[in-house]
Amino acid sequence: MTHLDDMPYTNAFMTEMLRIRIPGPLGLAHRAMEATKLMGYDIPKDTQVITNFWAVHHDPKIWGDPEEFRPERFLDADGKFVKPTHLVAFSMGSRYCMGESIARMEFFIFVVVMLQRYHLLLARDDSPPINEECLRSGQFLVPPSHEMRVKERFSREKSIMEYNQQMWDD
Ligand code: HEM
Repeated sequence: MTHLDDMPYTNAFMTEMLRIRIPGPLGLAHRAMEATKLMGYDIPKDTQVITNFWAVHHDPKIWGDPEEFRPERFLDADGKFVKPTHLVAFSMGSRYCMGESIARMEFFIFVVVMLQRYHLLLARDDSPPINEECLRSGQFLVPPSHEMRVKERFSREKSIMEYNQQMWDD
């Protein structure tokens, strides 16, 4: 995981994935345990409260071009990773996700291992895998089935370690 600090683009790419297609767009439903006031609104006791995280991640006032997949929004002019201030994929406040660090770890390992070993390509030019269908999947966003091509980046004869060694030697 310490490698992530030296991989700002990967970090920005993963963060942009969590932003544009937040896994749990509406969080979980909660209940107001007592009557309260929030931003001028009266919330009676026992009201069901549902957080619209999707709206935060797609607010043009925050992001400018929220519908664009643009990892660069999380990089500064020197290419360093900028910690996002409006990313709520793991919720906020007292019900904040307890598993964030393990989720981020798994996410990082999955992304880098896949990209290190394979080229992931569209099956055809006309089959973009991100489309409206995944927005109709319910509580959690699930990508629709789609075809893709997976091409090995390295031949089986040579291991990644050998390639890395060769790169240093060159
Ligand atoms: C990308 C992966 C994950 C995302 C986006 C995510 C997101 C969230 C969100 C938004 C909440 C708050 C729901 C709410 O009450 O409004 C939450 C709560 C929680 N998450 Fe995650 N989660 C992820 C992975 C995990 C993993 C891997 C674990 C455990 C190993 C985990 C454990 C928990 C627990 C225990 C809570 C409840 C915390 C509480 O209510 O006090 N999560 N998660």
